[in-house]
Amino acid sequence: MTVSEVMAPDPRTRSIRTINGLRASGPAGPAAAAQLIWCFLVRLDLLLRTGRHHNPWRAIPGRPAFFLPKAAMKRYEALAEAIAESIRSGVLRPGDRMPSVRQASISREVSPSTVFQAYYLLEARGLIRARDRSGYYVTAGSQALLPEAQQASLPEPESAPVAVSERVFEVLESTAERDVVPLGSAFPSPHLFPLQRLARVMAATVPRLDPWSSVDDLGPGNARLRRQIALRYLTDGLHVRTEDIVVTNGALEALNLCLGAVTRPGDAVVVESPAFYAALQALERNGLHAIEVPTHPREGVDLAALAQVLERHRPKACWLMTNFQNPLGSLMPDAKKRDLVALVTRHQVPLIEDDVYGELYFGARRPVPAKAYDSEGWVMHCASFSKCLAPGYRIGWTVPGRFGRAVTRLKLSTSLGASIPAQATLAAYLEKGGYDKHLRQLRHALSVQQNAMLQSVARHFPEDTRTTRPDGGYFLWVELPPHVRALDIHRYALSHGISVAPGPIFSARGDYGHCLRLNYGHAWDARSEAAMATLGRLVRAFRDPA
Ligand SMILES: Cc1ncc(COP(=O)(O)O)c(C=O)c1O
Repeated sequence: MTVSEVMAPDPRTRSIRTINGLRASGPAGPAAAAQLIWCFLVRLDLLLRTGRHHNPWRAIPGRPAFFLPKAAMKRYEALAEAIAESIRSGVLRPGDRMPSVRQASISREVSPSTVFQAYYLLEARGLIRARDRSGYYVTAGSQALLPEAQQASLPEPESAPVAVSERVFEVLESTAERDVVPLGSAFPSPHLFPLQRLARVMAATVPRLDPWSSVDDLGPGNARLRRQIALRYLTDGLHVRTEDIVVTNGALEALNLCLGAVTRPGDAVVVESPAFYAALQALERNGLHAIEVPTHPREGVDLAALAQVLERHRPKACWLMTNFQNPLGSLMPDAKKRDLVALVTRHQVPLIEDDVYGELYFGARRPVPAKAYDSEGWVMHCASFSKCLAPGYRIGWTVPGRFGRAVTRLKLSTSLGASIPAQATLAAYLEKGGYDKHLRQLRHALSVQQNAMLQSVARHFPEDTRTTRPDGGYFLWVELPPHVRALDIHRYALSHGISVAPGPIFSARGDYGHCLRLNYGHAWDARSEAAMATLGRLVRAFRDPA
């Protein structure tokens, strides 16, 4: 079978005419040159359209409240995914030449620009590479990966008090050392962020701060920063007013304020299963009960199960992540987000939406939050700059919808405000431009690192291991062979100078005993590869004890 044949669509949907007569190599001579020029032009156009010129106004659809975004997967994303699958499964092998854009466009029955965008996406993910004047090739590092984790979780559908903090602190405290290989860390490498540039902006901004800003910028926060945040929402098609935004000390404060504003001790709150451990800790601290809901590694929370829980338990809030959930990396499709909002609106249950990873997408556009579908104010959207621009500045925000007043008051009576110099610096940075360029570089680095980690898992872990393949963020969820205990791996790995995040810290009941969360937010190097080899050896040793 030739590469072109692999690239051809499913035989059930293609015509015979397009199967025959295609060769793997592209046209030669002047035709090839013309094609390259054409590719360059399409690429240039794509670059310009995907945000070099960040134009917040172009997305205004002229509709009230929030506009509803496009269909779940674009044609070129589907094509890229099909090709990626052929690469992962070994049908397309390292060194194989991809069909020319023209050939692929004919055989796939899509436009050349669809093929080009798909290739561009695959290139960004490190799966193919353009070689000077001779087209695209599958990269040397591409190889068969282990199968993808496909099973939704099945937690106990009951409401229960939470007691995870001891377990979480014990694990996290032991993994914070700087010379440990940080596969268990919650943070990406600080080297991925424009910290020098931010420092220069801060040096230029702080001396010129109006002394009264120390008073004016308390409460909901610096108006210029809130305007910049509102403009970013607008780019993504959401109409958020400056006065709808409350600036906080990171997203974690935003999430906690939202939780505090809508619950009282003893109430039940819905979380995903597995869930971000800080959400579980927040429930524990506030004397709340958790109801863990089945969650799919690709598509997020199971809406049928959630509907039953809302009916049966009457929880006071849902705390969920629709974009690149921590730890699964799941990305809820747009239609499902819309249904989720309709569901919570029907039950009048606030949805606390944690969207800290939304900017770290590997696809062509930022996935919208569920907030995009919220016309009645039941979604409390929370995000921050911690994971995408300025770790350590501790600047986040919330758009709490109909609970704005309660959240603002809670903010005033707990931490009063967020750092005034940090807010002013971020406002000035965003006003200057350059954020989108930084984000493109960050996303590219993360997607390449994800690919390196997936391949490393395939090289070193037993074949009955399963991993997620998120379309963004910087975590892999790894399901080890069933009898391997992640807490054992955690303990032994630490003694080898490697941290991992064991599954039980992501569950109110200590489930996921055979799962690990691994962080690929750090540059891939020999140390990372050696750490993965050690982990693989440990897993095999526990799977097949002597
Ligand atoms: C899922 C999730 N939400 C929220 C946070 C907290 O974000 P911030 O650092 O902005 O407080 C984190 C940080 O690890 C996270 O992983």
